[in-house]
Amino acid sequence: MTNKQMVLESAAYLQKILPAAPEIGLVLGSGLGPLAEELTDAARIPYEKIPHFKSSTAPDHAGQLVCGELAGRRVLCMQGRLHGYEGYAPDEIAYPVYVMKALGVRALILTNASGGINTAFSVGDFMLIEDHINMTGKSPLTGPNDSWLGTRFPDMTFAYAPSLREKADTAAQDCGLTLRHGVYCGVNGPQFETPAEIRMFRALGADAVGMSTVFEVIAAAHCGLPTAAIAMITNMAAGVLMQPLSGAEVNEIAARRGAAFRRLITTLVGKI
Ligand code: HPA
Repeated sequence: MTNKQMVLESAAYLQKILPAAPEIGLVLGSGLGPLAEELTDAARIPYEKIPHFKSSTAPDHAGQLVCGELAGRRVLCMQGRLHGYEGYAPDEIAYPVYVMKALGVRALILTNASGGINTAFSVGDFMLIEDHINMTGKSPLTGPNDSWLGTRFPDMTFAYAPSLREKADTAAQDCGLTLRHGVYCGVNGPQFETPAEIRMFRALGADAVGMSTVFEVIAAAHCGLPTAAIAMITNMAAGVLMQPLSGAEVNEIAARRGAAFRRLITTLVGKI
C-alpha cells in the first residue's frame, strides 16, 4: 500500500533532478507517447530509476517521466503507464498520481485508447470522459488508508472535474475538433471483451471501454487532484461491427489520429 514516506522519497528524488516544479500532470496512453517529444527543455527519467516506481512492460509504452514545457506550462508527462494486465496491483498503477500531487501538480490530464460502445461514435473520435464504471472489481485504495494521502471514503461525484471538462470542450472548439462525451468502462483485459459483455456495458450506461484510467482517477480523487480524461476511440468494441478486434488496429488508428489528439491535449494544457 502507498504511504506518505514512499511518496515523499519518490518526490524528493525527482525534485533534485527536475529543472522546475511541474504544474500539470499528463498520462499518455497507447500510441500517444509522441506528445512527450513535443515538450521543450525536457528532462527524461526512466521509471526504474525513481524510488518505488514500477517499470512498464506494455508495447509502445516508453516507461519514462518527461518533464518540460508545453503550451507555456511546466508539464510532468508519463510516457507510458502501467496496466493491470501486466500483473501490476491497482495501488502500483495509481502510485505516480500521488507523487505528482506531492510535487505540486495542480491538474491531471489522462489519455487512453478505448473501444467505442456507443453506436453513434466512429473510429477516430475523441471522447471526454464524464464518469466511469469500474468493472475491474478492484480499487487502488484497498488496504490500510494513510490519511496523509486522503480520506478513507473518497467522494467520486466530481472525480472528472467539471471546470477541466469545460476547458476541454473549449479546447476542442478552438481546434475545430468534435469532442464526444461519455461514460468510460474500465476493465482488466488483456483480452478484448466478448460481444455479450459489450451489450451488458451498454445497458449499464457505458459509451467506451478500456483497460486503464479508473485506478488513476480513483487515486486522484483520493488525494484531491482535479482530473480530466480524454479517450481516443481506436476501434468499435466487440460485436458492434461483427468483425474481429486487434491490437494492431488500435495502434494504427492511434497513430493516424495522433496529431489531432496531441493538438487537442496541448490546447487544453494551455488553458489550465
Ligand atoms: N476494449 C478494451 N480496451 C481497449 C479497446 C477495446 O475495445 N480498444 C482500445 N483499448
